[in-house]
Amino acid sequence: MKIFIDTANLDEIKELASWGIVDGVTTNPTLVAKSGRSFNEIIDEIFEIVDGPISLEVVSEKADDMVKEAKKLVNKISQKFRKNIAIKIPINPEGLKAVKLLTKEKIKTNVTLIFSANQALLAAKAGATYVSPFIGRLDDIGHEGMQIIEDIVNIFYNYDIETEVIVASIRHPIHVIEAARIGADIATIPPDVIKKMVKHSLTDIGIKNFLSDWDKVKK
Ligand code: E4P
Repeated sequence: MKIFIDTANLDEIKELASWGIVDGVTTNPTLVAKSGRSFNEIIDEIFEIVDGPISLEVVSEKADDMVKEAKKLVNKISQKFRKNIAIKIPINPEGLKAVKLLTKEKIKTNVTLIFSANQALLAAKAGATYVSPFIGRLDDIGHEGMQIIEDIVNIFYNYDIETEVIVASIRHPIHVIEAARIGADIATIPPDVIKKMVKHSLTDIGIKNFLSDWDKVKK
């Protein structure tokens, strides 16, 4: 399973990329706002740090405007990084039209705010490169978010659909394990969850004991 990092915070992206575990990045307007930097400032740097798919979201509401905004974003990115851009489009009728048009122009899309397998199926039919089902937000309202991941992965498998499934809105390390068990293509994970994934109290104790025993060895 590929690991994308779900943040627009450049320090976090740099740090986690240095661990060698980041295959891509997803951002959204909320994450960009949280970063406290301007969108233009951030995007160039993200593309410099991570050589993998980077999702940037459009905020237009009509299909034609989404397409214009997407093309503007693509043109902002220097030629050598353009292969990595994926335009995030919300799932609704206008979003589907935009995905169809962008796919025709060979621009990658990540259809976001997916909360059902039917939405994912329609996005894939329209030509989406990625779909992003938000499991944490479903859990928040008492639904079993991971169930739709299982459904989408099975449906895409049944019909050899090439659209990749990005498990999004991940809240904790168990979500990551469940996504991997199901066989999702990608999990986009917030930095704090990645940091929890690497931790284990027995590892910390083990390192501490090895170091103190090493001190007792005659040198
Ligand atoms: C994914 O692309 C989204 O940016 C993200 O996973 C949303 O997560 P949230 O529900 O924690 O805001």
